[in-house]
Amino acid sequence: MSLLRLDEVTRSVRLPDDGTLEILKGVTIEVAVGDHVSIVGRSGSGKSTLLNLLGLLDTPTSGSIWFDDRLTSTLSGNARDRVRGADVGFIFQQFNLLGGRTALENVMTPLLYANGRQFWRRRQLATEMLERVGLGARLNSIPEKLSGGEQQRVAIARALIRRPRLILADEPTGALDIDTGASVMALLDDVAESSGAALITITHDVTVAALARRHYRLDGGVLTPIDVSPVPALSAPGVAQ
Ligand SMILES: Nc1ncnc2c1ncn2[C@@H]1O[C@H](COP(=O)(O)OP(=O)(O)OP(=O)(O)O)[C@@H](O)[C@H]1O
Ligand SMILES: [Mg+2]
Repeated sequence: MSLLRLDEVTRSVRLPDDGTLEILKGVTIEVAVGDHVSIVGRSGSGKSTLLNLLGLLDTPTSGSIWFDDRLTSTLSGNARDRVRGADVGFIFQQFNLLGGRTALENVMTPLLYANGRQFWRRRQLATEMLERVGLGARLNSIPEKLSGGEQQRVAIARALIRRPRLILADEPTGALDIDTGASVMALLDDVAESSGAALITITHDVTVAALARRHYRLDGGVLTPIDVSPVPALSAPGVAQ
């Protein structure tokens, strides 16, 4: 089932000298429920611009975006915010955790805007999610006391707490060493799959990209499917099954 579909999407910006810069050029991609897609591209190729469109944070200059077979341009700003809040989880290179707040508080944050049941059960749900990413013993640690890999696991738990159907990861291993990055990626792949979410990983690292099932390259705003040789399965240490 198609979850997200972009058809001939472009994104242009107006430059100060009155010219226009076309950042994305006719991007077409379809992502199904449970899919794991990677997008590789060098700096300036338009990755973050594309991520903002995929995550309904931005609207295209031309072309169409369907989420759940709904044409997103027909949604009001509020409706789009609601879809994003409930159905999209973001993971960033720099973790973006709230400093001075415990892991548990960080993971509960998205549930402060949830309705009814999820709101009232937020502490228990956040505890379960942190256990799921192997941090059951660090519930009350603040980010400043956690390693980079542990911080990214908190960020993964936070991104997944509302059970989004789409997870967008922008350079999720960019701030981690190779081994930690590999185990965080294996964990992300695993929790996304077991919760039935589609995962789109944006990265410049081909070993990270190789974990995905389908691969794309973004080059000068043009998105093309590519073949990437598979890597041996990685296990995610310390993860509760
Ligand atoms: N609002 C804007 N105004 C002008 N130029 C912009 C704007 N947003 C992005 N760009 C330009 O568009 C290009 C693509 O930007 P984008 O941030 O999407 O790249 P990226 O692939 O994410 O790069 P990086 O890997 O460095 O994060 C860049 O050349 C950038 O300078
Ligand atoms: Mg970027």
